[in-house]
Amino acid sequence: MKAGIFISGTGTNMEALVKAHREGELEGVSEISFVFSNKRNAPGVEKAEAAGIKTIVIPKIKEESVEDYEIRIFDAIKNYNTGIIVLAGFMRILSPVFLRLYPGQIINIHPSLLPAFKGVDAQKQAYDYGVKLSGCSVHFVDESLDGGPVILQKAVLRQDDDTLESFRNSILKEEHSLLVEAVSIVATGAYEIQNRFVSIKRRK
Ligand code: GAR
Repeated sequence: MKAGIFISGTGTNMEALVKAHREGELEGVSEISFVFSNKRNAPGVEKAEAAGIKTIVIPKIKEESVEDYEIRIFDAIKNYNTGIIVLAGFMRILSPVFLRLYPGQIINIHPSLLPAFKGVDAQKQAYDYGVKLSGCSVHFVDESLDGGPVILQKAVLRQDDDTLESFRNSILKEEHSLLVEAVSIVATGAYEIQNRFVSIKRRK
C-alpha cells in the first residue's frame, strides 16, 4: 500500500521511514507518496525534498475552521490513495471529520509510554515528573488525545546524568526503529485488535 507522512518539525522520524523504505525494510509499503507539513518552514520539508519525495505544505489560515482546513488537506492528498497515514511529529490534533476519511489507517508516534504524559512535550513532562522510565509509543489515532490502541511501545531508562536534551535524544533514537516496525506491521495487516489490545501476528 502507499503511505503518506505528516510532519510539523525536524522530520527525523520521517527520514527513518524514507531510509527504511529505500533499504527495503518498510514492509507492505510500496511507495511513500508524499510528506505533508502544516508548517512552511519545518526543517523536515527540506529534508523530504532533498530525498526526492513529493512535499505538500498547507498551513492553516487563521479564519478558517479546523474542518475546512482538513478538507483542504484531504483535497490535496486524496488522489494519492494512501492506505496508511503516519503522523511523525505532526503537532495538530485531527478532527473526526478527517479521521473518518481514513478509518483505522492513521497512526501516530508519541514520545512517552502512553497513557502517561499525553499531549505536548511529553519528554519534558516525564523529565520534570522525575520518572525513571519513559519511552515511546506508536498507536492508532482515534478521536481521543493520544488515546487510540497502542501498536508498539519501547521503554527508555532515564540515566542519573541525563539532561532533558539527552533524555529526549535517547527516546528519539528508539522512536525511529519503533516507527519503522509499527508501519510494517500495519501495512502488512499483521495485527488484530480485540478490546483495544493490538496483538501482533508476526515480529522480526
Ligand atoms: C518526536 O519526538 C515525536 O515523537 C514527537 O515529536 C517529535 C518529532 O521529531 N511527537 C509528538 O510529540 C506528537 N504528540 P521529528 O520531527 O524529528 O520526527
